[in-house]
Amino acid sequence: MVKAGILGATGYTARELIHILLRHEHAEIVALTTRQEGDVHVSEVHPQFAGRLDLVLEPLKSDEIIARCDCVFSCLPHAASAERVKPLVDAGIRVVDLSADYRLQEVGTYTHWYREEHPDPERVGAVAYGLPELFFDEIAASQIVANPGCNPTAPILALAPLLKARCIQPADVIVDAKCGVSGAGRSPKLTTHFPECNENVVAYNVGHHRHTPEFNQVLQKVSGANVDVLFIPHLVPMDRGILTTTYATACDPISEEQVLGILREFYRDRPFVRVVDNLPTTKQTLASNYCDLTARVIGERVVLIGSIDNLWKGASAAAVQNFNVMYGFEETTGLCD
Ligand SMILES: NC(=O)c1ccc[n+]([C@@H]2O[C@H](COP(=O)([O-])OP(=O)(O)OC[C@H]3O[C@@H](n4cnc5c(N)ncnc54)[C@H](OP(=O)(O)O)[C@@H]3O)[C@@H](O)[C@H]2O)c1
Repeated sequence: MVKAGILGATGYTARELIHILLRHEHAEIVALTTRQEGDVHVSEVHPQFAGRLDLVLEPLKSDEIIARCDCVFSCLPHAASAERVKPLVDAGIRVVDLSADYRLQEVGTYTHWYREEHPDPERVGAVAYGLPELFFDEIAASQIVANPGCNPTAPILALAPLLKARCIQPADVIVDAKCGVSGAGRSPKLTTHFPECNENVVAYNVGHHRHTPEFNQVLQKVSGANVDVLFIPHLVPMDRGILTTTYATACDPISEEQVLGILREFYRDRPFVRVVDNLPTTKQTLASNYCDLTARVIGERVVLIGSIDNLWKGASAAAVQNFNVMYGFEETTGLCD
C-alpha cells in the first residue's frame, strides 16, 4: 500500500481525489492538510465521506508528512504549492502537483504569466508533464509530475496527433472552451457567486489566460513545430465539465475520415481517450477519466471537439492516472467502474 497525503484537502480537487483513492487498491490516505484551526474531521468538510474515512485534517508540517507519507497529491494554489512541495521532494517523497507550478519549462515564462516568483526555480523545466497519453515514459521515471491544466487537456490531446502528422498549420489554432464553475475552485469569488454566474455566460481572461503558454509549450514539444494557440475560455452555468472547440487549418485537403483515422490510430491502445462519432457532451464524460474527442472538416477548417470533466480528467483522476504510471500500477486502477 502506498501511503498518500493530500495537501489542500478542503478543496474541490481534493474531494474528488479522496473519492477516487478510497477505492484504489494500492493507496491508503494517511494525511489531509488544511490551514483551518482545530480538530476538523474530514466529514465536517466533505460530508459524503462520513463513515468512509476517519481522518482529522491537520496543519501542513513537512516533517509529519515526510514521516508518514510515501506520496503526496498537492491540491494547493500555484506558488503555495511549490513552496510546500519543495521540502517534500527534497526528502524523497513522490509528488503529483495539481497546481500550475511545475508545468512550464522556464522560470521567466512562469513569472510573466503567474506574476509570482517561483519558490522552487531549480526544478522548473525538469518535471514531467502529466499527460500519460503523450509522456508515459517520462512520468514513469519521475519522482514529481506536473498535472496538466484542465483547459489544455482535451485540445492538446486533439491537436497533438494532427500536428505530429503535419496535417494542420501550427501557427493558426484557436481554442474556445466552455468551463463549469468548479474550475475556479471552492473559495467564494464574485464572478462565481450564484446570482452572477447562474443563467449567464461570459468570456474571461480573453487573450491572457494563464493556460496559453502551456498549450504552446506542450504542443511544440510534441510536434517540433512553432505552435501558437489563441485560447478563449467562457464560464458557463454548470457545476463541472469543459467542452472545447478547437479550430485549425488543414495544410492540404483532408477528409473527416482521415482526421478521425489519425486520432483513432494514435489513441488505439490508450484507455482514457475515446474518439467518438457523436458530438461530445460534458455529461458523457461527467465523473469519468475519459476525454472524448471528435472531428469535423469544413472546407479547409479542421474542427476538433473535446469533452472532459475538469475535476476528473482535468485534475484529480488524471492525478491518479499519473500516480498509477509513476508506481507501475495498471494505468486504470481506481479509475474504472
Ligand atoms: N478546480 C479545477 O477544475 C482544477 C483543475 C485543474 C487544476 N486545478 C488546480 O488544482 C489546485 C486545487 O484546485 P481546487 O479547485 O481544488 O482549489 P480549491 O477548491 O480552492 O482548494 C484549494 C485548497 O488549498 C488551500 N489553500 C488555499 N490557499 C492556500 C495557501 N495560500 N496556502 C496553503 N493552502 C492554501 C485551501 O484549503 P484551506 O483553506 O483549508 O487551507 C483550499 O481548500 C489549484 O492549483 C488549481 O489551479 C484545479
